[in-house]
Amino acid sequence: MVRTKLTKDPADAAKVINRGGLAAFPTETVYGLGAGVFDEAAIGKIFQAKGRPQDNPLIVHIARVEDIERLAVNVPAYARALIAEHFPGPLTIVVKKRAEVPESVTAGLDSIGIRMPSAELAREFLSKCEMPVAAPSANLSGRPSPTTWQAVLEDLDDRVDCILKGDPTDVGIESTVVDCTGDVPVILRLGALSSGELGLNIVRGDDDAMGALKSPGLRHRHYSPSARVMLVDDLKLLRGGENVAFIGLRTLGVEMGYAVVCRNEREYAHKVFEFFRECDRRGIETIYCETVWEGGIGAALMDRLRRAAE
Ligand code: TXA
Ligand code: MG
Repeated sequence: MVRTKLTKDPADAAKVINRGGLAAFPTETVYGLGAGVFDEAAIGKIFQAKGRPQDNPLIVHIARVEDIERLAVNVPAYARALIAEHFPGPLTIVVKKRAEVPESVTAGLDSIGIRMPSAELAREFLSKCEMPVAAPSANLSGRPSPTTWQAVLEDLDDRVDCILKGDPTDVGIESTVVDCTGDVPVILRLGALSSGELGLNIVRGDDDAMGALKSPGLRHRHYSPSARVMLVDDLKLLRGGENVAFIGLRTLGVEMGYAVVCRNEREYAHKVFEFFRECDRRGIETIYCETVWEGGIGAALMDRLRRAAE
């Protein structure tokens, strides 16, 4: 029996936030697990529900660009330019936080990650919340991010007060996180917006030591299904079998328990987290992921595949 309240009405989900509860909601990237940013008790419940390490800061979601002033100070001109171009959208900027933002949100850092989702349902929901909404991805810590409301329910039934039911998310992998606390912007986490789209040439990928230091989330294990994940570029080396699955761009010559062939990198990124979850449901033991060209969304996709394979 499902214990969490399911709703299609963004006003219902916002009411849950305004009363100090937890509500999961869809964005264009993945589903988020939200709580009011200034509500310390509710923020504590996010970490509990996910089993999330306390040293991993949350991204705060806003409905309007002006809401940044409630959260941040000293936003540099280059960050304003990124905001003007990419908000709303799958970009998170890290800027200096206001003292009023609880330390539990930012895991004790003096910076805060802020993003304004573009998904229509997310915007309606956020506009009805009385304050910005802190929200990590709505999965149990360590599991693949949820791209459907069913995946949220699978992980968090009874741990979240309400799930706002929307369509499967559009992009399928998380936002790009850009540090805007220094003299120049630095990419801390590769994501839905590529460095090319951002016009940034300074990239610190997720396995970069500096990136991991400044973005605590990158230290933790992520995106992993229970099965063993192997990255392959030569499909001739693959062996089929009932407990084996494949995802990639090319058609396979061997029989496998489960295979998903995508038309391009964008579709691959859109499908990969749900594919991992489906592999777990089917009891798959070995997953082969075809490697892709690391341009555009392919860079973030390869980052997620590498982490799953670690
Ligand atoms: O697309 C997304 O970003 C989704 C949706 C729900 O918005 N959210 C998401 O949140 O992926 P989460 O918690 O799974 O990942 C947040 C990432 C972590 O790597 C965290 O370390 C980083 O953002 N982050 C958040 N605040 C930060 C800060 N102040 N400084 C450095 N990194 C920060
Ligand atoms: Mg996450």
